[in-house]
Amino acid sequence: MATILILDDRNTNRKILAQLAMSVEPGVAVRACASGEEGIAAAREKAPDLVFSDFNMPGMNGAEFVAAFRKLEGCIDVPVIVVTAYEDREHRYRALESGATDFLASPVDHHEFVVRARNLLALRRQSLARQAAERANAAKTAFLANMSHELRTPLNAIIGFSEIMQIELHGPLGNAKYKGYANDIGNSARHLREVIQNILDVARIEEGKFDVEKKLVGMPLVLEEAARMVRPEAERAKLVFGVDVPGDLPYVLGDKTKLTQAFLNLMSNAVKFTPAGGAVSIEAHKASDKIEITVGDTGIGMAPEEIPIALARFGQVSGDPYKKKYQGAGLGLPIAAGIIQAHRGELLIDSAKGRGTKMTVRLPAAGVVLDTIQ
Ligand SMILES: Nc1ncnc2c1ncn2[C@@H]1O[C@H](COP(=O)(O)OP(=O)(O)OP(=O)(O)O)[C@@H](O)[C@H]1O
Ligand SMILES: [Mg+2]
Repeated sequence: MATILILDDRNTNRKILAQLAMSVEPGVAVRACASGEEGIAAAREKAPDLVFSDFNMPGMNGAEFVAAFRKLEGCIDVPVIVVTAYEDREHRYRALESGATDFLASPVDHHEFVVRARNLLALRRQSLARQAAERANAAKTAFLANMSHELRTPLNAIIGFSEIMQIELHGPLGNAKYKGYANDIGNSARHLREVIQNILDVARIEEGKFDVEKKLVGMPLVLEEAARMVRPEAERAKLVFGVDVPGDLPYVLGDKTKLTQAFLNLMSNAVKFTPAGGAVSIEAHKASDKIEITVGDTGIGMAPEEIPIALARFGQVSGDPYKKKYQGAGLGLPIAAGIIQAHRGELLIDSAKGRGTKMTVRLPAAGVVLDTIQ
């Protein structure tokens, strides 16, 4: 239920405004006060959703009231309308400068008052809903970060001991099958650790706590390293896999491990979402003060409206007939995008359903970044 606070030192005015406020919407609570001080006390008790305040009042005037009101808990973004005489520009300016949302000319037009109040309450509700959603999102992100930390610790023990068993450090396991199981346990745990690491990364990116190193990084090395990791899978999938990266690209100022991960994520998607017989190609060149890298594929592609889904954490393009065939948590692309953004780069996605995808990454060349930092 919305609460409207009315401030006016004149009895009749106050009553009229309170009556009007009551008619704004069913169930609205109206609190009418005779002074700024009284209004502050009322707002301290319970933050209103909308305030109408007269400017000329004995004691605190409208501008002073708004300034004090803004400092109260939960009142920083509550809309406040100050009522001033039509010709009184000076008061209007002072009210707006103190943090009033808007003003109304006195005598107040009844219809305008009610319409404004309705609009402002609707905006207020939207803003509260957005804040609640942001809080819930932040709580979810914090939960993901904490949970991933907790899950990683026991996994390290599982991985370590499975390796000890595999090499039969303390004597033979007896049955050969056990050695195979130890291998499977290790592999599954490593996969799980990777997924958990991805969840942690995505949470850090969202919380803005994703730190990247700032060292000179050679992109040919980064791209070759990432390509080396996906090449075997591309061969298994019978794809033509081409890398065309000149060796004399300028350096990028950044984090080698994270950049490698970003390109690995893009390349592994290109390989994963391209059916046999297709092609994946990686190219790079210098474009003015940037390095432009493209990861292209002739695979299943995405429709324009599917791209935001693909970029969202855990987002996978639904309704995709190939989807069931593919593993993944929907984290690789948002992580790549986060890493690129942390390097002040941009990621452009050009994709068409059934016709392949081209991911273009533009990263600032190091010389330029160094200049702007100095
Ligand atoms: N090159 C591509 N071609 C077609 N679809 C793609 C491509 N890259 C990403 N997508 C779509 O975007 C979705 C999200 O990609 P993302 O890399 O975040 O997740 P994933 O590959 O499904 O899982 P993960 O990377 O966590 O193992 C994919 O599931 C796929 O639907
Ligand atoms: Mg992926």
